[in-house]
Amino acid sequence: MKFLTASLLAATASAGTNHGFRRSDAPTEVKLTTVSTSDVPDSLDWRSVNGRSYASTLRNQHIPNYCGACYTFAATSALSDRIRIGRGDRASQQVDLSVQALLNCNDIGGDDGCHGGDPINVYQYIFENGVPEETCQQYRATGLDTGETCEPIDVCMDCAPGGGDCTAVDKDVYYTYKIDEYGLVNGTEAMIQELQRAPIACTVAVTSDFADYTGGVFEDTTGDTEMDHSISLVGYGTEDGQDVWYGRNSWGDYWGESGFFTIVRGSNNLGIEANCQYAVPADEDNEKWEAPAPAEPREAVGLGGGRLGANDWEAVGGEHVTSPRPHEYLSADDIPAAWDWRDVDGTNFVTWDKNQHIPQYCGSCWAQGVTSALSDRLSIMSGAAAPQVNLAPQVLINFNGGGTCEGGMPAKAYNWIKKNGIPDQSCQVYQALDLGGRRGNDCDDMCVCETCSANATSFTPGSCEAVTEFPTYYVSEYGSVKGADQMKAEIYARGPIGCGIDATDAFELYTGGIYSETKRFAMVNHEISVAGWGVDEETGEEYWIGRNSWGTWWGENGWFRIKMGSDNLAIESDCDWGVPTTEKQ
Ligand SMILES: *[C@@H]1O[C@H](CO)[C@@H](O)[C@H](O)[C@H]1NC(C)=O
Ligand SMILES: *[C@@H]1O[C@H](CO)[C@@H](O)[C@H](O)[C@H]1NC(C)=O
Repeated sequence: MKFLTASLLAATASAGTNHGFRRSDAPTEVKLTTVSTSDVPDSLDWRSVNGRSYASTLRNQHIPNYCGACYTFAATSALSDRIRIGRGDRASQQVDLSVQALLNCNDIGGDDGCHGGDPINVYQYIFENGVPEETCQQYRATGLDTGETCEPIDVCMDCAPGGGDCTAVDKDVYYTYKIDEYGLVNGTEAMIQELQRAPIACTVAVTSDFADYTGGVFEDTTGDTEMDHSISLVGYGTEDGQDVWYGRNSWGDYWGESGFFTIVRGSNNLGIEANCQYAVPADEDNEKWEAPAPAEPREAVGLGGGRLGANDWEAVGGEHVTSPRPHEYLSADDIPAAWDWRDVDGTNFVTWDKNQHIPQYCGSCWAQGVTSALSDRLSIMSGAAAPQVNLAPQVLINFNGGGTCEGGMPAKAYNWIKKNGIPDQSCQVYQALDLGGRRGNDCDDMCVCETCSANATSFTPGSCEAVTEFPTYYVSEYGSVKGADQMKAEIYARGPIGCGIDATDAFELYTGGIYSETKRFAMVNHEISVAGWGVDEETGEEYWIGRNSWGTWWGENGWFRIKMGSDNLAIESDCDWGVPTTEKQ
């Protein structure tokens, strides 16, 4: 599988500054030993520790523009993993730190947005200023070098509907992650020791064979150690008697082994053992994980979501049900009193959180709810193994596969996914835009999966082209459920579902607790997903556990609980489900 054509690769190489690592002169303490034990295990892979993956979301630095941001991805992916690891054994929500906020702001040691930098400077920046999550500032492949500024709105933003303004989110409302300690680590032994604590960032030389890598144990034979790229290491081990490192790249899931790679260990291949970086999150056990309460009540702006009323299954030729539905074969006794896909015996099966409203308002809830529920179901089917798949809502929007930024309908999205399939977000990044229009009315293969490269006249944005081979996901069947019993059976047996709700102003201002709102004529105008239910210890009342797509600083880390049994905000009236598959339909 080729991910770049030869001409694009040549263009990339000729553009000089490469993938984005530029060594900084910033003086930093070098760490040679970190953990005071020589008793390290023979292998360790943070993608699978006692069956659990701690790996944060796999990304693609090269979309929607070419951008030499590897140094920021390497630093944030290792640190994001480490925050999750720091929370110990309890099932925890994954954290994906915002690369874009750093590209907008970090100029330490000459770091220059898409024109490259050094992970150690990224860590120094986070040490001094902190960094929010991705849902505050989504990756756009731009930076301070391309005109971005570092005002509060460039760190955490939200946008109002109807062409309304985008504004900065109050600093007290979103959580800022900080680090206590950071430094350099080099040499096989010290790297292995640091890896006992968590993944680390490392720099490498990129040869054309590495760029074309499709799997297996990589070994460079050119002797190139001219470091021009940063990656993160998630572990080490032995493959067929050969000592190896396990690394993660930021070139999408269609590169290498689902975005990861295996490389020989112990011979400084590609220079991988000469210059690594680590950072230790502040407050490692992270008690602050509780959603912070907003400093001041915000004003509701009518966020809504963009679901165009009840699911019209007739419009797509009816539901597509080919096997018995869980509520037909499960009895009430089979269903547990409480269920939460974020914590099933200590395992968290849910995928990443999203914000549909940045960098501009987009009524894409219908695409967000459907892709979150389906991604969670893929995670459940894989036993929460890495790599996690986060299906791309932008592809649905690009092709009007159920709707646009002006709203849409989940029933149509399932139907479209069954026919066409969709890729992971590392093929098509969320832009909150009706791209079909922007790129000319026929949104072609580039609107499904793309990569961008520097060209002779433009390092960034460079030029983009379609990627033709990439993992694609379909649904084999889809349909509706309504009412608490059907919803519980479907969620318990197969995973999260999508549901319509009436997103009121009061719901928009929700900051936590078990929500309840009595409304006489609730009208579905928003799609969320439901991933479980529970029982309030004090009142004995049952509630649903739902996921919104309004950022992690909304509600309970982006999630909410709402009273069950009274069709609160119409949440039990019109739900949808799909069964994901990798098989073409
Ligand atoms: C690795 O660490 C050693 C010890 O501090 C240092 O002398 C050496 O320059 C480092 N190598 C690189 C490539 O940074
Ligand atoms: C290089 O990229 C720039 C910016 O996207 C574009 O305008 C130009 O046409 C590209 N040149 C080539 C030769 O592809």
